[in-house]
Amino acid sequence: MKKGKPSLTAELTTFARAAESARPEAKRLCHDPLAKEFLVAPLKILARSRILAGVVIWWAERLAPGVPGEILGRTKYIDDSLKTRIDEGIEQLVILGAGYDSRAYRFDGLSQRVKVFEVDHPATQRVKMKRVGRLLGHLPDNVVFVPIDFEEERLHHKLFEKGYDRTKKTFFIWEGVTYYLTAKAVDETLAFVVENSGVGSSIIFDYAFEKVLEGASDVEQVNRILKAWERIGAPLTADEHFIFGVKEGTIQEFLSARGFYQIENVNGDSFKAAYFKGMKQSGDVSHICGFVRATVKPRG
Ligand SMILES: C[S@@+](CC[C@H](N)C(=O)[O-])C[C@H]1O[C@@H](n2cnc3c(N)ncnc32)[C@H](O)[C@@H]1O
Repeated sequence: MKKGKPSLTAELTTFARAAESARPEAKRLCHDPLAKEFLVAPLKILARSRILAGVVIWWAERLAPGVPGEILGRTKYIDDSLKTRIDEGIEQLVILGAGYDSRAYRFDGLSQRVKVFEVDHPATQRVKMKRVGRLLGHLPDNVVFVPIDFEEERLHHKLFEKGYDRTKKTFFIWEGVTYYLTAKAVDETLAFVVENSGVGSSIIFDYAFEKVLEGASDVEQVNRILKAWERIGAPLTADEHFIFGVKEGTIQEFLSARGFYQIENVNGDSFKAAYFKGMKQSGDVSHICGFVRATVKPRG
């Protein structure tokens, strides 16, 4: 990201969630009723109209087939996982690269007893805090905002200074972020999670397949989407380029070597099987990313 500019990709993923959430229950993949509240004015107006929002998503699907399905499927997957983690009794939730993630404000089970740390680039977070204030009239007590540039600062300093407790059972959400970071920043963040969280803590995130970054995906359509992104999307979105990936089929090894176990490996086909019912059955999920949840191996 360029210094001083809020993330436009965060705005775009939020628009996709807002548009989807306006659809009738039987026809939508995920439901984020607060998404529209976090949008910049012109996108908010578009999202208010089911017809206009539908046209924009249809156009996005034409330009980047399967990408809307991927964004919405991963939100549903993470929402479902968060529900389970709340039932299991997590004590802290850390949302890394939070963007306009509204989970802290729409999951009832959180506000009562779970401290939420929203970690994000300061440029995006400043805008987010204004929008939360506008929506709720105040910043909730159980939400702590932690500004950080993953490339330049260490999570250790920032989170501890804001009251993060390394002995508590914590769930980390890292949605739509890893591919924009260097391998070093990804490794440091995973190491922080492993070394600084209580028993039973886990992380959920998506990652690009390495071949996709090399423009050598087996699915030709994917190479075309990525080329179009580099040409049109990246310059528009303040240079959010895809620079990090994991070789397809190796996420278990990758995470096991970094101190995780109980690795739940999910892909677009899993989303289709689990979530694409009824009218959505013919929908597409692009083969760009994998999705994973993994638990921190017990120490000692
Ligand atoms: C595609 S958005 C995803 C936002 C949100 N998690 C979602 O799924 O809607 C990428 C997010 O990563 C954050 N980000 C990108 N590079 C970053 C960096 N170097 N340090 C901190 N955050 C970064 C952006 O601020 C933005 O919120």
